[in-house]
Amino acid sequence: MSLSELDGSSKRVFMFGGKGGVGKTTCSATTALHYASLGRRTLIISSDLTPSLSDMFEMEVGATEKPVRGVQNLHALEIGPEEVMKRWKKKFGPEIYEAASSLIDMEYDDVIDYVAMAPGIQEEFMLDYVLERVKDGSYDLIVWDTAPAGDTLRLLELPYKFISHLRTAPKVYMRMRDAFKLKQVPFLDLIESWKALAEEVTSFMRDPDNTEFILVTIPEGLGVYQARRLIKEFEGFGLAIHYILVNNVIKNPDSEFNRQRMEMQSKYIKMLADEYADGRKLIEVPLFPHEIKGVESLRELEEVLFAH
Ligand SMILES: Nc1ncnc2c1ncn2[C@@H]1O[C@H](COP(=O)(O)OP(=O)(O)O)[C@@H](O)[C@H]1O
Ligand SMILES: [Mg+2]
Repeated sequence: MSLSELDGSSKRVFMFGGKGGVGKTTCSATTALHYASLGRRTLIISSDLTPSLSDMFEMEVGATEKPVRGVQNLHALEIGPEEVMKRWKKKFGPEIYEAASSLIDMEYDDVIDYVAMAPGIQEEFMLDYVLERVKDGSYDLIVWDTAPAGDTLRLLELPYKFISHLRTAPKVYMRMRDAFKLKQVPFLDLIESWKALAEEVTSFMRDPDNTEFILVTIPEGLGVYQARRLIKEFEGFGLAIHYILVNNVIKNPDSEFNRQRMEMQSKYIKMLADEYADGRKLIEVPLFPHEIKGVESLRELEEVLFAH
Protein backbone atom coordinates (compact mmCIF):
# COMPACT_ATOMS: atom_id res chain seq x y z
CA MET A 1 0.00 0.00 0.00
CA SER A 2 1.31 3.46 -0.83
CA LEU A 3 0.38 7.12 -0.85
CA SER A 4 -0.36 7.00 -4.59
CA GLU A 5 -4.10 7.48 -3.96
CA LEU A 6 -3.57 10.62 -1.95
CA ASP A 7 -4.99 12.70 -4.78
CA GLY A 8 -2.68 15.66 -4.75
CA SER A 9 -4.08 16.65 -8.13
CA SER A 10 -7.31 18.00 -6.66
CA LYS A 11 -6.75 18.38 -2.92
CA ARG A 12 -5.16 21.62 -1.81
CA VAL A 13 -3.65 21.02 1.62
CA PHE A 14 -1.91 18.03 3.15
CA MET A 15 -1.14 18.26 6.84
CA PHE A 16 1.37 15.89 8.40
CA GLY A 17 1.12 15.31 12.12
CA GLY A 18 2.65 13.02 14.72
CA LYS A 19 5.09 13.07 17.59
CA GLY A 20 8.63 14.42 17.29
CA GLY A 21 11.22 12.36 15.44
CA VAL A 22 8.86 9.91 13.71
CA GLY A 23 9.53 11.24 10.21
CA LYS A 24 6.99 14.02 9.63
CA THR A 25 9.45 16.32 7.91
CA THR A 26 10.89 13.45 5.87
CA CYS A 27 7.48 12.27 4.69
CA SER A 28 6.06 15.73 4.02
CA ALA A 29 9.17 16.74 2.07
CA THR A 30 8.86 13.56 0.00
CA THR A 31 5.18 14.23 -0.69
CA ALA A 32 5.86 17.83 -1.67
CA LEU A 33 8.69 16.73 -3.95
CA HIS A 34 6.44 14.14 -5.56
CA TYR A 35 3.62 16.50 -6.50
CA ALA A 36 5.98 19.29 -7.53
CA SER A 37 7.62 16.82 -9.89
CA LEU A 38 4.20 16.04 -11.35
CA GLY A 39 3.87 19.72 -12.18
CA ARG A 40 1.79 20.93 -9.24
CA ARG A 41 3.04 24.27 -7.95
CA THR A 42 3.78 23.21 -4.41
CA LEU A 43 4.71 24.98 -1.21
CA ILE A 44 6.04 23.06 1.76
CA ILE A 45 5.63 24.82 5.09
CA SER A 46 7.18 23.69 8.32
CA SER A 47 5.82 25.22 11.51
CA ASP A 48 7.86 22.87 13.68
CA LEU A 49 10.48 24.97 15.40
CA THR A 50 13.23 22.36 15.32
CA PRO A 51 15.30 23.10 12.21
CA SER A 52 14.01 20.80 9.56
CA LEU A 53 13.46 21.81 5.95
CA SER A 54 16.79 23.60 5.76
CA ASP A 55 18.52 20.36 6.73
CA MET A 56 16.33 18.26 4.52
CA PHE A 57 16.88 20.34 1.39
CA GLU A 58 20.42 21.28 2.37
CA MET A 59 19.82 25.00 1.94
CA GLU A 60 18.83 27.95 4.10
CA VAL A 61 15.02 27.94 3.97
CA GLY A 62 13.85 30.52 6.53
CA ALA A 63 10.71 32.58 6.94
CA THR A 64 10.28 33.72 3.35
CA GLU A 65 9.17 31.38 0.60
CA LYS A 66 12.19 30.19 -1.35
CA PRO A 67 12.51 27.95 -4.41
CA VAL A 68 14.02 24.60 -3.52
CA ARG A 69 17.29 24.11 -5.31
CA GLY A 70 17.16 21.39 -7.94
CA VAL A 71 13.39 20.85 -7.81
CA GLN A 72 11.02 22.61 -10.17
CA ASN A 73 7.66 23.88 -8.89
CA LEU A 74 8.69 23.56 -5.26
CA HIS A 75 8.99 26.34 -2.72
CA ALA A 76 9.71 25.98 0.98
CA LEU A 77 9.06 28.02 4.10
CA GLU A 78 9.92 27.59 7.77
CA ILE A 79 7.87 29.73 10.09
CA GLY A 80 7.82 29.81 13.90
CA PRO A 81 5.56 31.55 16.42
CA GLU A 82 7.66 34.72 16.64
CA GLU A 83 7.52 35.37 12.93
CA VAL A 84 3.81 34.52 12.85
CA MET A 85 3.14 37.09 15.55
CA LYS A 86 5.21 39.70 13.76
CA ARG A 87 3.21 39.23 10.59
CA TRP A 88 -0.06 39.12 12.42
CA LYS A 89 0.66 42.48 14.01
CA LYS A 90 1.64 43.93 10.68
CA LYS A 91 -1.49 42.66 8.98
CA PHE A 92 -4.09 43.48 11.62
CA GLY A 93 -2.30 46.02 13.79
CA PRO A 94 -3.45 49.28 12.18
CA GLU A 95 -7.00 48.01 11.82
CA ILE A 96 -7.19 46.99 15.46
CA TYR A 97 -5.64 50.18 16.70
CA GLU A 98 -8.03 52.31 14.71
CA ALA A 99 -11.01 50.39 16.05
CA ALA A 100 -9.76 50.23 19.63
CA SER A 101 -8.59 53.84 19.86
CA SER A 102 -12.18 54.98 19.44
CA LEU A 103 -12.87 53.24 22.75
CA ILE A 104 -9.77 53.59 24.82
CA ASP A 105 -6.85 55.90 25.15
CA MET A 106 -3.82 53.62 24.89
CA GLU A 107 -0.48 53.46 23.15
CA TYR A 108 -0.40 51.63 19.82
CA ASP A 109 1.90 48.83 20.98
CA ASP A 110 -0.07 48.25 24.18
CA VAL A 111 -3.33 47.84 22.28
CA ILE A 112 -1.85 45.45 19.73
CA ASP A 113 0.03 43.40 22.33
CA TYR A 114 -3.13 43.11 24.37
CA VAL A 115 -5.28 41.91 21.51
CA ALA A 116 -2.51 39.61 20.24
CA MET A 117 -2.75 37.69 23.52
CA ALA A 118 -6.26 36.43 22.74
CA PRO A 119 -6.36 32.63 22.61
CA GLY A 120 -5.86 31.10 19.20
CA ILE A 121 -4.47 34.14 17.44
CA GLN A 122 -1.27 32.31 16.50
CA GLU A 123 -3.06 29.32 15.10
CA GLU A 124 -5.63 31.48 13.45
CA PHE A 125 -2.96 33.40 11.66
CA MET A 126 -1.13 30.27 10.54
CA LEU A 127 -4.32 28.81 9.08
CA ASP A 128 -5.15 32.14 7.51
CA TYR A 129 -1.71 32.24 5.97
CA VAL A 130 -2.15 28.79 4.43
CA LEU A 131 -5.62 29.57 3.15
CA GLU A 132 -4.46 32.84 1.65
CA ARG A 133 -1.72 31.05 -0.27
CA VAL A 134 -4.29 28.58 -1.58
CA LYS A 135 -6.80 31.23 -2.52
CA ASP A 136 -4.50 33.72 -4.19
CA GLY A 137 -3.49 31.04 -6.66
CA SER A 138 0.23 31.16 -5.86
CA TYR A 139 0.25 27.41 -5.31
CA ASP A 140 -1.80 24.41 -6.33
CA LEU A 141 -0.84 22.42 -3.27
CA ILE A 142 0.40 23.17 0.21
CA VAL A 143 2.12 20.49 2.25
CA TRP A 144 2.20 21.41 5.90
CA ASP A 145 4.73 19.79 8.20
CA THR A 146 3.12 20.62 11.54
CA ALA A 147 4.67 20.86 14.99
CA PRO A 148 4.49 17.62 17.03
CA ALA A 149 1.13 16.07 17.79
CA GLY A 150 -1.26 17.78 20.08
CA ASP A 151 -0.35 21.10 18.58
CA THR A 152 -1.86 19.97 15.31
CA LEU A 153 -5.16 19.51 17.01
CA ARG A 154 -4.84 22.72 18.95
CA LEU A 155 -4.41 24.37 15.61
CA LEU A 156 -7.82 23.16 14.53
CA GLU A 157 -9.51 23.52 17.84
CA LEU A 158 -8.46 27.02 18.63
CA PRO A 159 -10.28 28.84 15.88
CA TYR A 160 -13.43 27.58 17.59
CA LYS A 161 -12.27 28.83 20.94
CA PHE A 162 -11.31 32.02 19.25
CA ILE A 163 -14.74 32.37 17.69
CA SER A 164 -16.56 31.68 20.93
CA HIS A 165 -14.23 34.07 22.70
CA LEU A 166 -15.16 36.71 20.17
CA ARG A 167 -18.85 35.94 20.51
CA THR A 168 -18.83 37.50 23.93
CA ALA A 169 -16.91 40.55 22.74
CA PRO A 170 -19.83 42.28 20.97
CA LYS A 171 -21.86 42.11 24.19
CA VAL A 172 -19.07 43.70 26.16
CA TYR A 173 -18.65 46.27 23.47
CA MET A 174 -22.36 47.10 23.34
CA ARG A 175 -22.38 47.62 27.08
CA MET A 176 -19.38 49.90 26.83
CA ARG A 177 -20.94 51.74 23.96
CA ASP A 178 -24.15 52.31 25.89
CA ALA A 179 -22.30 53.27 29.04
CA PHE A 180 -20.09 55.77 27.27
CA LYS A 181 -22.74 56.80 24.74
CA LEU A 182 -20.37 56.08 21.87
CA LYS A 183 -21.67 56.40 18.34
CA GLN A 184 -19.13 54.50 16.27
CA VAL A 185 -19.15 50.73 16.02
CA PRO A 186 -15.95 49.95 14.12
CA PHE A 187 -14.77 47.44 16.71
CA LEU A 188 -17.92 45.43 16.18
CA ASP A 189 -17.33 45.39 12.43
CA LEU A 190 -13.81 44.21 13.00
CA ILE A 191 -14.96 41.38 15.25
CA GLU A 192 -17.57 40.37 12.71
CA SER A 193 -14.98 40.22 9.96
CA TRP A 194 -12.64 38.16 12.14
CA LYS A 195 -15.40 35.79 12.97
CA ALA A 196 -16.14 35.34 9.29
CA LEU A 197 -12.44 34.76 8.64
CA ALA A 198 -12.11 32.18 11.39
CA GLU A 199 -15.18 30.34 10.15
CA GLU A 200 -13.97 30.37 6.57
CA VAL A 201 -10.58 28.98 7.51
CA THR A 202 -12.03 26.29 9.74
CA SER A 203 -14.58 25.10 7.25
CA PHE A 204 -11.94 24.96 4.54
CA MET A 205 -9.70 22.82 6.68
CA ARG A 206 -12.56 20.52 7.62
CA ASP A 207 -13.65 19.95 4.05
CA PRO A 208 -12.23 16.58 2.94
CA ASP A 209 -12.22 17.78 -0.68
CA ASN A 210 -9.60 20.35 0.30
CA THR A 211 -7.60 18.95 3.14
CA GLU A 212 -6.13 15.61 4.07
CA PHE A 213 -4.50 14.84 7.41
CA ILE A 214 -1.76 12.27 7.39
CA LEU A 215 -0.64 10.75 10.62
CA VAL A 216 2.97 9.66 10.87
CA THR A 217 3.94 7.17 13.53
CA ILE A 218 6.42 4.40 14.32
CA PRO A 219 5.79 0.73 15.16
CA GLU A 220 6.55 1.01 18.85
CA GLY A 221 4.39 1.21 21.94
CA LEU A 222 4.65 4.96 22.28
CA GLY A 223 3.91 5.46 18.60
CA VAL A 224 0.77 3.33 18.81
CA TYR A 225 -0.56 5.06 21.93
CA GLN A 226 0.06 8.44 20.40
CA ALA A 227 -1.68 7.42 17.17
CA ARG A 228 -4.70 6.16 19.11
CA ARG A 229 -4.96 9.36 21.09
CA LEU A 230 -4.61 11.59 18.07
CA ILE A 231 -7.11 9.67 15.95
CA LYS A 232 -9.62 9.79 18.76
CA GLU A 233 -9.13 13.49 19.28
CA PHE A 234 -9.52 14.16 15.60
CA GLU A 235 -12.65 12.05 15.45
CA GLY A 236 -14.09 13.95 18.38
CA PHE A 237 -13.69 16.91 16.14
CA GLY A 238 -15.47 15.32 13.22
CA LEU A 239 -12.21 14.96 11.31
CA ALA A 240 -11.21 11.66 9.80
CA ILE A 241 -7.63 10.55 9.37
CA HIS A 242 -7.53 8.33 6.30
CA TYR A 243 -3.80 7.78 6.04
CA ILE A 244 -1.47 6.43 8.67
CA LEU A 245 2.20 6.17 7.77
CA VAL A 246 4.07 3.65 9.89
CA ASN A 247 7.66 4.72 9.47
CA ASN A 248 11.01 3.03 10.16
CA VAL A 249 9.74 -0.48 9.47
CA ILE A 250 12.49 -3.11 9.27
CA LYS A 251 11.88 -5.24 6.20
CA ASN A 252 14.88 -7.50 5.68
CA PRO A 253 16.64 -8.15 8.96
CA ASP A 254 20.28 -9.07 8.46
CA SER A 255 21.10 -9.72 12.07
CA GLU A 256 19.63 -11.19 15.21
CA PHE A 257 19.37 -7.66 16.57
CA ASN A 258 17.26 -6.50 13.65
CA ARG A 259 15.24 -9.69 13.64
CA GLN A 260 14.25 -9.03 17.23
CA ARG A 261 13.36 -5.46 16.44
CA MET A 262 11.28 -6.60 13.49
CA GLU A 263 9.37 -8.97 15.74
CA MET A 264 8.67 -6.16 18.19
CA GLN A 265 7.54 -3.92 15.32
CA SER A 266 5.22 -6.57 13.84
CA LYS A 267 3.33 -6.73 17.10
CA TYR A 268 2.56 -3.02 16.96
CA ILE A 269 1.88 -2.98 13.23
CA LYS A 270 -0.67 -5.73 13.81
CA MET A 271 -2.24 -3.72 16.62
CA LEU A 272 -2.58 -0.71 14.36
CA ALA A 273 -3.89 -2.84 11.51
CA ASP A 274 -6.49 -4.51 13.73
CA GLU A 275 -7.70 -1.19 15.01
CA TYR A 276 -7.48 0.97 11.95
CA ALA A 277 -7.42 -1.12 8.79
CA ASP A 278 -11.11 -0.50 8.36
CA GLY A 279 -11.66 2.62 6.28
CA ARG A 280 -8.08 3.79 6.63
CA LYS A 281 -4.91 3.18 4.77
CA LEU A 282 -2.07 1.88 6.86
CA ILE A 283 1.13 2.38 4.91
CA GLU A 284 4.39 0.83 6.03
CA VAL A 285 7.48 2.89 5.24
CA PRO A 286 10.74 0.93 5.35
CA LEU A 287 13.65 2.00 7.49
CA PHE A 288 16.50 2.99 5.20
CA PRO A 289 20.04 1.98 6.08
CA HIS A 290 21.09 5.62 5.70
CA GLU A 291 19.57 8.90 6.87
CA ILE A 292 17.18 10.66 4.53
CA LYS A 293 18.65 14.01 3.70
CA GLY A 294 18.91 15.92 0.45
CA VAL A 295 16.82 15.67 -2.71
CA GLU A 296 18.53 12.49 -3.95
CA SER A 297 17.58 10.45 -0.92
CA LEU A 298 14.09 11.95 -0.86
CA ARG A 299 13.69 10.62 -4.41
CA GLU A 300 14.56 7.18 -3.13
CA LEU A 301 11.85 7.39 -0.51
CA GLU A 302 9.43 8.85 -3.07
CA GLU A 303 9.74 5.67 -5.14
CA VAL A 304 8.63 3.61 -2.18
CA LEU A 305 6.03 6.01 -0.79
CA PHE A 306 4.29 6.54 -4.10
CA ALA A 307 4.81 3.11 -5.65
CA HIS A 308 1.84 1.76 -7.58
N1 LIG B 1 12.29 5.68 6.73
C1 LIG B 1 13.41 6.20 7.22
N2 LIG B 1 14.60 5.54 7.12
C2 LIG B 1 15.73 6.06 7.63
N3 LIG B 1 15.79 7.24 8.28
C3 LIG B 1 14.64 7.94 8.43
C4 LIG B 1 13.40 7.47 7.92
N4 LIG B 1 12.44 8.39 8.22
C5 LIG B 1 13.06 9.38 8.88
N5 LIG B 1 14.38 9.12 9.01
C6 LIG B 1 15.37 9.94 9.72
O1 LIG B 1 14.90 10.14 11.04
C7 LIG B 1 15.18 11.44 11.50
C8 LIG B 1 13.93 12.13 11.98
O2 LIG B 1 13.04 12.35 10.89
P1 LIG B 1 12.21 13.70 10.74
O3 LIG B 1 11.48 13.60 9.45
O4 LIG B 1 13.07 14.87 10.94
O5 LIG B 1 11.18 13.56 11.97
P2 LIG B 1 10.13 14.63 12.53
O6 LIG B 1 9.97 15.69 11.50
O7 LIG B 1 8.88 13.84 12.76
O8 LIG B 1 10.70 15.13 13.80
C9 LIG B 1 15.87 12.15 10.35
O9 LIG B 1 17.25 12.13 10.56
C10 LIG B 1 15.52 11.31 9.12
O10 LIG B 1 16.56 11.33 8.17
MG1 LIG C 1 10.32 17.77 11.73
